[in-house]
Amino acid sequence: MINKAKLGVLVSGRGSNLQSIIDNIEKGKLNAEIAVVISDVKDAYVLERARKRNIKACFVNTKDFKNRGGFFDEIGKILRQNSVEYVILAGFMRIISLSLINAYKNRMLNIHPALLPSFPGLWVQKKALEYGVKYSGCTVHFVDEGCDTGPIILQAVVPVLDNDTEETLSQRILKEEHRIYPEAIDLVINGRVKIVGRRVIKKDTK
Ligand code: GAR
Repeated sequence: MINKAKLGVLVSGRGSNLQSIIDNIEKGKLNAEIAVVISDVKDAYVLERARKRNIKACFVNTKDFKNRGGFFDEIGKILRQNSVEYVILAGFMRIISLSLINAYKNRMLNIHPALLPSFPGLWVQKKALEYGVKYSGCTVHFVDEGCDTGPIILQAVVPVLDNDTEETLSQRILKEEHRIYPEAIDLVINGRVKIVGRRVIKKDTK
C-alpha cells in the first residue's frame, strides 16, 4: 500500500467540506490522513468536529501576532511540525501569505462556491443570484498569489432556479463541493494531473 498523503486542513467555520474529506478517507476512497486541522476562529464548529474524530485540531489567534506575516508563519510552523504535504483550504476566509503559498506551491488547494473566474471573493452565491446567472457551481483550484485565481482542477455546474434564495443555492452548490473536493484531492495526491500553462490536465488523457 502506497503511503498515505498527509493533509493539513484550514477552516474558518462549520467544516462540512472537511467532513466529506473525512468520510471519503474512512470509506477508503481517499488514500490520505488528516495530520492537523487549523482554524482562525476559536469557536468554529470544525474544531469540535475534528476532535470528535481524534484529529489534532488547533486554533491560531490572529490577535497573538503583530502582523499577518507572523500569523501565517505560525500556521506554517504547525504544518511543518505535523509533516503536512498538502494544504487543503476548506472555507478558510483569509488570504494566505505569499511565503506560505510558495512553501506549498502546487500542493495547496482551495474550494470556491462559484464557477471561477466568475465571482471570486466573498458572498459569491448572493452575487451570482443578483447578477442573474442561470448557472453557478463550484471550483477546486490550486492556490496562487491572486485571490481565487489559481489553475482550476475541477468544477461542477449547478443550475440557478427561479425560486432560489441565497440559502437554497448555497446548499445545492455545497452538495457538489462535497463530491468534487475529495475527487480533486485524490487526483493531486496521486500525481494524476499536470499543470500546463493555466490548464490542469489529467495525465491519463490521451
Ligand atoms: C464552502 O461553501 C466553501 O466553498 C466556502 O465556504 C464554505 C465553507 O463551508 N469557501 C469560500 O467561500 C472561500 N472563499 P464548510 O465550512 O461547511 O465546508
